[in-house]
Amino acid sequence: MSVFKKALHAQVAETFDVPPDSVLWRRDFLLGVATAAYQIEGAVDEDGRLPSIWDTFSATPGKVLRGDTGAVACDHYHRWRDDVDLIAALNVDAYRLSIAWPRVMDRDGRANEKGIAFYRELLQALRARGIRTSVTLYHWDLPQHLEDAGGWCNRATAYRFAEYADLVSRELAGLVDFWSTLNEPWCSAMHGYGTGHHAPGHTSVTEASAAMHHLLLGHGLALQALRRNDPASQKGIVLNVGRGTTDGDRPEDRRAAELFELQHNDWVLDPLLKGSYPAALFEQLWQGAEPPVEEGDLAIIAAPLDFLGINYYFRTNVRGDGNGGYVEVDLEGVERTQMGWEVYPEGLAHLLVGFHERYASLPPIYITENGMACDDEVMDGHVVDGQRIAFLNRHLAAVDRAVKAGVDVRGYYIWSLMDNFEWAFGYERRFGIVHVDYATQRRTVKRSAELVRDFLARRNGRS
Ligand code: NOJ
Repeated sequence: MSVFKKALHAQVAETFDVPPDSVLWRRDFLLGVATAAYQIEGAVDEDGRLPSIWDTFSATPGKVLRGDTGAVACDHYHRWRDDVDLIAALNVDAYRLSIAWPRVMDRDGRANEKGIAFYRELLQALRARGIRTSVTLYHWDLPQHLEDAGGWCNRATAYRFAEYADLVSRELAGLVDFWSTLNEPWCSAMHGYGTGHHAPGHTSVTEASAAMHHLLLGHGLALQALRRNDPASQKGIVLNVGRGTTDGDRPEDRRAAELFELQHNDWVLDPLLKGSYPAALFEQLWQGAEPPVEEGDLAIIAAPLDFLGINYYFRTNVRGDGNGGYVEVDLEGVERTQMGWEVYPEGLAHLLVGFHERYASLPPIYITENGMACDDEVMDGHVVDGQRIAFLNRHLAAVDRAVKAGVDVRGYYIWSLMDNFEWAFGYERRFGIVHVDYATQRRTVKRSAELVRDFLARRNGRS
């Protein structure tokens, strides 16, 4: 550990700084932690699990940093009982997890009983501890056999997804408080089929646009199955949203920032909340890449949601590219995380207030992910993650500001419960509030987690 780092650790905030009038003190404001199946489970070929696109992608040289894969990850599939104890010990209200589609459904669409049993026991154990369960059906691990049939570019995948949602919600009805159909369809569509940074690694805007449409159609169809099979639960979708600003002063720079948000936010929010795609996106940025909409699709996609999950991480600075588009230009002298992402809590409050003003049908919001990666190390049995503590304090304050401005935000989940497989960045990037030593699978609660735990003990101890 460097002298600099030691000095930093010495000055870490010792409290979780929550003002007395903050919404966080409300016992009905959910504070939780989040994970996703491929990032923590491991056991990729046990008990009948089929290969997913991330098994294939991570096994392809050059796709994931240092050649890491999710084959073992945090070994949660075998250690889940201890992990539930760990979650309970943090006093959190809720746990957000995802179900691995390739673990629970065979190639013919039938249930894989062992896979279902794993999630049933896990959810029962959480419920027994009084922890609310928030389950995402699709956190990026598409069964490989469906990708071989065209993946999300193939309209049929939307119907396969609805069948999967139907099966899982019949099997697990009554054990789930919050169902989310998709996690970050923007990333599935754009990084999976547009930039190629994620599985399956294609690079075509036309494919990304088709994939987005079929993801959203799959969401709408899955919602119908969830409503049928588990009426008492809350149902929604989880979206990543991005704040785009410009340091340029030309009109084309200002337009660039608008285009950035159009592409990141409106592309997904408009069909879901207004029943239409933003025309300007396809007129100005992606001519010729219009989505393959069929009659009736948008009514299915825009069905009312019980909640909207928002994942927020950073802001992007852009300028006009001289060609009607935008380029990303890194700002100098701003605080960044281990991912290189700018720490910018104002962006979260700004976006929440903006959505509230713009969308008449905006449902109640849960922040389903927020957090940061640090190169945390265990020192004398402790991990003092000061930058993360400050990050959480500032983002929770931003949520509180949005609530005071009238936005109906009902909860906040930290990404992530524990360090895990950070997709194309493998295990190097550590987002957990619990440290994982991958050689021994030892979990060490970081200082941030201790502060969350102590805050919740104080909050829950109030009458
Ligand atoms: C979004 C994704 O949902 C999650 O899987 C990922 O690890 C975090 N953001 C951090 O990049």
